[in-house]
Amino acid sequence: MFFQQIFEEKLAQYAYLIGCQRTGEAIIIDPMRDVDRYKELAMQNNLKLVAAAETHIHADYLSGLRELAEQGLTVYASDEGDKDWKYEWLMGSDYDHKLLKDGDEFSIGNIKFTTVYSPGHTPEHVSYLVTDGAATDEPMGILSGDFVFVGDVGRPDLLESAAGQKGAMKSSAKVLYQSLQRFKEMPEYLQLGRDTEPEVPVVKHWEPCRNQRLDMSSVLTVPSGLQSASRSLWIIFWTDSRNHRSISHA
Ligand SMILES: [Fe+2]
Repeated sequence: MFFQQIFEEKLAQYAYLIGCQRTGEAIIIDPMRDVDRYKELAMQNNLKLVAAAETHIHADYLSGLRELAEQGLTVYASDEGDKDWKYEWLMGSDYDHKLLKDGDEFSIGNIKFTTVYSPGHTPEHVSYLVTDGAATDEPMGILSGDFVFVGDVGRPDLLESAAGQKGAMKSSAKVLYQSLQRFKEMPEYLQLGRDTEPEVPVVKHWEPCRNQRLDMSSVLTVPSGLQSASRSLWIIFWTDSRNHRSISHA
């Protein structure tokens, strides 16, 4: 499996190119409007960009999802949330697309993506569990968008503080809390990110030590062999605009 983070420094935005080297296909997660860079990066790595997906509707940068749909790529987006949080430009369109509910799956070559409904930051937010079918039947990481970060969680206050939806902050925080309860039940080995200092992969197992917002209470130990095993794996990915830590391919 190919994985690469693409960081846009000026907007503090992250996209993620994930490819199946067996089939030569790749997908871009949370693309920005300038989509050529992703196609070129895929080509440089003997991959063809065939699909794109979003974790949620972005308010802080222009999405490239529609541009890629116009170019004939298959696009994936959330079908969760209420009527005010739908991808109306996709619904009933001729674009090659799939709108996703919790539990829905799609694949790029050997790589399987499983949709996890994770509202709170936005009402329709989804994350994607990523399973490299060439190596395992278990997910190795999660593309969590603005749901969970290394050491933090997404902001549930923006609908009220930035978009003026009165009362949305409290209700969104409660929804986010419920999403986090589900996250806490996910496998401990799930990879969440990578710290730069020291440069080690961050897995869910470690998050309670560092992410007070998860409010986990279990006593933690580092699984034997995890660190070396993780070197050959990857990551998690997030697109938070305020709490970034850089991660890179193992
Ligand atoms: Fe966001």
